[in-house]
Amino acid sequence: MTIDLPLIHNKLHYNQSASSDPSGSPTQQDLRNLLDHYFSIAHLNDRLQDLPHQFHHPQCRPWTPIDWQAIALDQIVGIQPQVFLSILRGAIDTEAPIRGYTQTSRQYLEPIDPRMARFVGGVVGEDGQLLEPGLWEKEERQHTPALLKVYSQLTGEKVIPQPHRVRAYQAEANPTVALYRHGLHRVATEYGAACLYLWLMAHTTGPLQAVLHELLLDEINHMAKFWGFGIWAYPNSSLPHIGWTLLQTMQGRVGYQRDRSSLVGTLQRMTDVLGWQAWSARNRWTFTLTCFHALGRLSRWNQHLTPAFLQDLLGESPCHCSKENF
Ligand SMILES: [Fe+2]
Ligand SMILES: [Fe+2]
Repeated sequence: MTIDLPLIHNKLHYNQSASSDPSGSPTQQDLRNLLDHYFSIAHLNDRLQDLPHQFHHPQCRPWTPIDWQAIALDQIVGIQPQVFLSILRGAIDTEAPIRGYTQTSRQYLEPIDPRMARFVGGVVGEDGQLLEPGLWEKEERQHTPALLKVYSQLTGEKVIPQPHRVRAYQAEANPTVALYRHGLHRVATEYGAACLYLWLMAHTTGPLQAVLHELLLDEINHMAKFWGFGIWAYPNSSLPHIGWTLLQTMQGRVGYQRDRSSLVGTLQRMTDVLGWQAWSARNRWTFTLTCFHALGRLSRWNQHLTPAFLQDLLGESPCHCSKENF
């Protein structure tokens, strides 16, 4: 199925110009219209159904050409330019170092599903050398350079990324449990990035918006694939169980200061790096609502991910364990 993204993209301009807000800022209705499209069941299904094809014929999603030279500060709408730039710096630091992320995930995935391990982490030789990066890495590694280009176009300055320390793979007796915990945080990160780029896209126009649109498409693509894979691999999981696992992960890491793998650590780091303290009340409110409504649309989509649908797509689920086993 082909999704007509440019049409909706144009619709955003229409909605913005028709916005009743005197500042020209996107209204909650503008944001809901974007969510209705990008987080629609049709779009999420389309991205998930693409996964088996990418297992066999991995191919990067091509970006629409962007007029980088035309990116300018007056394309920011409804966010203070200084705040927008601090969000950009935060996103640059969060996107790096992608190689570290992909190789950790590959190690957790390998015992459970080699196809997915290859999709995220590529092919590794017997000596541990990476022979071919995974598709996830190939698509994600375009993000930091794109954001750097946007930043230097807007400010005339170069920013040096300060990549985060990646929490290394930790072998556990039960690889099913290990992947479950690791995977939850990966899905959460893709979801957070998708919400952020959608919200930023609503606050921009022209070529600046076009860059954020490409980033959004990549993050939603990965989020849908990871989410669907997770539901397929852990059919007995439930929302309360997911919440409980995240809570346990948090409690288990009390000894670590701001551990990157705990959910609280992730959220704290995200608000820190995005300079949340400097955001206007309106920006905070609309971003929070965007995240909230995005989650609502994801749980609606989740109801369509029946075991039969997922088995048809990805084959027999590898985990037949009950909730108590992981
Ligand atoms: Fe990314
Ligand atoms: Fe991502």
